[in-house]
Amino acid sequence: MSSLLTLFITLSILLSTSSPGVLSQPGCPPPPRPRPLIGRVRPRPPLYPPGLKLMGGRPPNNPGPLSNRARILFITQELKRNITYDPFNYTGTWVGNNYCLFKGYFCDTVPDLNITGLASIDFNGARFGGRFLNFYRFIRNLPDIAIFHANSNNFTGPIYRNINLLRYFYELDLSNNRFPGGFPSNVLGATNLTFVDIRFNQYAGSVPARLFNIDTDVLFINNNGFRNPIPAATFGNTPAIYLTLANNHFNGTIPPSIGRAWRTLREVLFLNNRLTGCLPYEIGYLVGATVFDAGSNLLTGPIPQSFGCLRSLQFLNLAHNLLYGPIPESLCRLPNAYNFTLSYNYFTQVGVQCRKLITAGTLNVRRNCIFGLPNQKSAAECDRFFRTARTCPLESTFSIVPCNISTVAASFVDGRKLKEIAAPPPPRTYAALEKAHR
Ligand SMILES: *[C@@H]1O[C@H](CO)[C@@H](O)[C@H](O)[C@H]1NC(C)=O
Ligand SMILES: *[C@@H]1O[C@H](CO)[C@@H](O)[C@H](O)[C@H]1NC(C)=O
Ligand SMILES: *[C@@H]1O[C@H](CO)[C@@H](O)[C@H](O)[C@H]1NC(C)=O
Ligand SMILES: *[C@@H]1O[C@H](CO)[C@@H](O)[C@H](O)[C@H]1NC(C)=O
Ligand SMILES: *[C@@H]1O[C@H](CO)[C@@H](O)[C@H](O)[C@H]1NC(C)=O
Ligand SMILES: *[C@@H]1O[C@H](CO)[C@@H](O)[C@H](O)[C@H]1NC(C)=O
Ligand SMILES: *[C@@H]1O[C@H](CO)[C@@H](O)[C@H](O)[C@H]1NC(C)=O
Ligand SMILES: *[C@@H]1O[C@H](CO)[C@@H](O)[C@H](O)[C@H]1NC(C)=O
Repeated sequence: MSSLLTLFITLSILLSTSSPGVLSQPGCPPPPRPRPLIGRVRPRPPLYPPGLKLMGGRPPNNPGPLSNRARILFITQELKRNITYDPFNYTGTWVGNNYCLFKGYFCDTVPDLNITGLASIDFNGARFGGRFLNFYRFIRNLPDIAIFHANSNNFTGPIYRNINLLRYFYELDLSNNRFPGGFPSNVLGATNLTFVDIRFNQYAGSVPARLFNIDTDVLFINNNGFRNPIPAATFGNTPAIYLTLANNHFNGTIPPSIGRAWRTLREVLFLNNRLTGCLPYEIGYLVGATVFDAGSNLLTGPIPQSFGCLRSLQFLNLAHNLLYGPIPESLCRLPNAYNFTLSYNYFTQVGVQCRKLITAGTLNVRRNCIFGLPNQKSAAECDRFFRTARTCPLESTFSIVPCNISTVAASFVDGRKLKEIAAPPPPRTYAALEKAHR
């Protein structure tokens, strides 16, 4: 016991006295190249103004010329016949010729026609039910549509390639519907989509590699049945700002290519999959990331020293994995640390700075193997875990620090800053883990 204690003290002294700047390596690799922007087409700002503004575009009772009126009225009546459950009585308003007045329909001036068109559908929470509510057939008959939101309905059916003929379409929310089968690859043909939300459906199988090449800001595919590894080669191509893969059955490792997304990625959730292997050091390139969550997987190995470069990080969750080793002190010096949860792993040491975060309630290390701290795993459980020799491939990469750590930590004066950190706004990606809309 006393030799263990000595070892522990020696290590914590080592950990706490390594001066922050020392870890920087002069020859450290530069940030990986993100996918070149050349050749990307995206209407910026969108052709139509953002969703909320569309409401002002509702014309009065006498609508004047309405784009594609006959077609829209026809498909609306077909959908209305198919809807057998309409608890909020949307379809009761779907009468007459002015579709701009229908509940859930929003009009605006069609960009290139100077005529009023159906720009947005908002069926969020309508809870339409019916034997076959055919999403694709419906939307294909709304030629001017830009935004389609249908959270918590019973839309279903295959999505065909011609969805790419909807030239203004940029925002798709089909979350919490009943879409079965494989990934709706044809959605990827709508190349101007900046918002893709297909969470809470019954999709299964692999996700196609080109999903991460599409030019989208928001990509929510959580709570489906996706399995197999995350496509490693293309993953880092994603220009998504908000990305959720949570609550699926992805296995394999977190692709090192993630580092290439450093310019854009702010929030990423790998939570609750079956990911294995060690954390790639390339995660440390994500200098803009505020949320990194890989909790409840089968990840192992230590936390790479590169995590000390995540200078924007507010929320870190690595709980319920098989991670081990010392918790890097540089992680606990990150200036925006707000909620770092590392509980239910096999971490063995925390240094002085991390202890301050524990005291402040910012760092949670319950149920680890940290000698001398309360609420740890039993010695027997820790013993059992460490009886197996554990290594990571590319061990040497765990000490790579691709930033100037002393600069990152400069604003963090000895724990005093802790009290000044106000609660950050709740992350958007965590809101996406709720079935219904906020
Ligand atoms: C639905 O709305 C329409 C039009 O507002 C109304 O006439 C009808 O009575 C409503 N139906 C129910 C069941 O509330
Ligand atoms: C659009 O149409 C309105 C009348 O419908 C007209 O006053 C206006 O000049 C037109 N704008 C353009 C850019 O053609
Ligand atoms: C909508 O789908 C859910 C889930 O499959 C089902 O339980 C419900 O009965 C459906 N509602 C209607 C009205 O079809
Ligand atoms: C309505 O139901 C019919 C019969 O199942 C189906 O062929 C059609 O595609 C559906 N249309 C829409 C808009 O849901
Ligand atoms: C995407 O937007 C560009 C630029 O506005 C447009 O030229 C192109 O046709 C759109 N692509 C699709 C598939 O609608
Ligand atoms: C991932 O799971 C699939 C079954 O869904 C299995 O065939 C494959 O070997 C697994 N791959 C890895 C890397 O674990
Ligand atoms: C901190 O994060 C963990 C894991 O995501 C979560 O369970 C917990 O509720 C969070 N605590 C606060 C105070 O936000
Ligand atoms: C790292 O930051 C420190 C403090 O700002 C500075 O003195 C030093 O020159 C920087 N080193 C490099 C390699 O940029």
